[in-house]
Formats: sequence, C-alpha cells, structure tokens
Amino acid sequence: MARRKQIYEGKAKVLFEGPEPGTLVQYFKDDATAFNNKKHGTITGKGVLNNRISEYLMTRLTEIGVPNHFVRRLNMREQLVRQVEIIPIEVVIRNVAAGSISTKFAIPEGTQLPRSIVEYYYKNDELNDPMVSEEHVTAFGWASVQELDEILSLSLRINDYLSGLFLGVQLRLVDFKLEFGRIYNENGDVQIILADEISPDNCRLWDVTTGEKLDKDRFRRDLGGVAEAYQEVARRLGILPEG
Ligand code: C5P
Repeated sequence: MARRKQIYEGKAKVLFEGPEPGTLVQYFKDDATAFNNKKHGTITGKGVLNNRISEYLMTRLTEIGVPNHFVRRLNMREQLVRQVEIIPIEVVIRNVAAGSISTKFAIPEGTQLPRSIVEYYYKNDELNDPMVSEEHVTAFGWASVQELDEILSLSLRINDYLSGLFLGVQLRLVDFKLEFGRIYNENGDVQIILADEISPDNCRLWDVTTGEKLDKDRFRRDLGGVAEAYQEVARRLGILPEG
C-alpha cells in the first residue's frame, strides 16, 4: 500500500492525508510530553487506548448533537476525521481546582469551583501557550465574536454532558481541554466543530470515592501506573473486554 502523505506531526498524534478529500487519518502515538515538551516519555499502549476512548466520547457527543470531526475508527491506532481549519485556541474548562489554576491562584487542589471556569490559551509552543482573554481572541482575528460565542456554548454543553457521563462511571471530570476548527459547507457556510481528541491525555479524571488520579497527571507527576490508569478509564467506559 502506498504510504500516506503526512500532513502534521504533533506530540501525541500524527495526521495523514485521508482517503477522500476533506478527510484526514489521525494516528495516536504512545509518546507523552508534558510541561511544553520539557518532559518526554512513552506510555505503552496509550495510543490504542486514547483512540478508543476518544472514539467513544466523540460518538456520544455526536448522539447529543455536538458537531465534531470524528468519522470512524479505522484500526487500533487510527481514526478517520474530517479535515478542519484549526482555530489556534485551546479551551480549558474547569470544574474543580487543579494544576495551573491551583498554582497560579494558590487554590488547594480538589477545591470545588463555585461555577465552571472557561479559559482560553493561544496555541503557540514558542510562547508557551499563553493564557488569553476573549478580547485577544477576537482582536487578533483567531476567531470572530460569533465563532467564540459558539465555541463557548459548545464547550459548556460538552462539559455538562461529559461531567454526567463520567460521574456515571464514578469519575470526577476535574478539568479538560478542547480544540475547535472550521469546516466550510458546499454553500460556503462556515461551521464550528469540535476537533482533536478527548482522552486522559487532556482531561483530569479522579475516582469519585478515593480521589485517585486516572489521567496524564500520573505521567506529569511521576506517580507510576500511567498505562493502568488509562486502561481503567477505558474499562469503566465499557470499551475494554473485562479482564
Ligand atoms: O495545566 P492545566 O491545569 O492548565 O491544565 C488544565 C487541563 O487542560 C488539564 O486537563 C490538562 O490535561 C489540559 N491541557 C491539555 N493541553 C495543554 C494544557 C492543558 O490537554 N496544552
């Protein structure tokens, strides 16, 4: 089989040209990085698990009418997705204080936030993904006011839905990161859709009872049992054979 043309290589994924125009193949690697690439590692089997977990969550979101780039899973490590024009913003939604918000504002990890907090970061490795305001996003033309409204409302819907879904399997959705892109319909209309992946690489997931971390913080903080934690998330979602 002819080698597919590589479009982009990220830290945890590679994008290849897809079989039809307007599609891409998203390949999930086992590589893990943290702290803007300063920490590197490999989590054996992570790519396979994230491919399945993201497939599962994107499919559930499609069912509730959240437009997203997922088309279908192709094999263990690859899924077919729609090609989007990526919006260079990372949207972080927080329900519980952890990570950078705890450090920045000296809020103990685990503090329930009075309401969900949405933050925007400019996707730029050289600048260390700086936090930006809505004003920055619109003034610098990364998204229009209407697009940002849509991104915010989709993000809050996704948060409500996923918080409930994870709670149903005894997991607390502490925070997570989303990325969005534009697609252009035949008539020239622009639509904002969810892109990238949703997995323990970009969510914080804590066991409801014990508070055990079942996400990438196990890698970031050298807690051990990283692959086992990702497997446990997949198992609870019912997408791993019971073993
Ligand atoms: O590090 P911080 O606390 O700001 O991360 C908030 C959430 O966003 C975490 O769930 C983390 O996994 C995710 N995140 C991400 N990619 C980044 C930054 C944060 O997936 N570049």
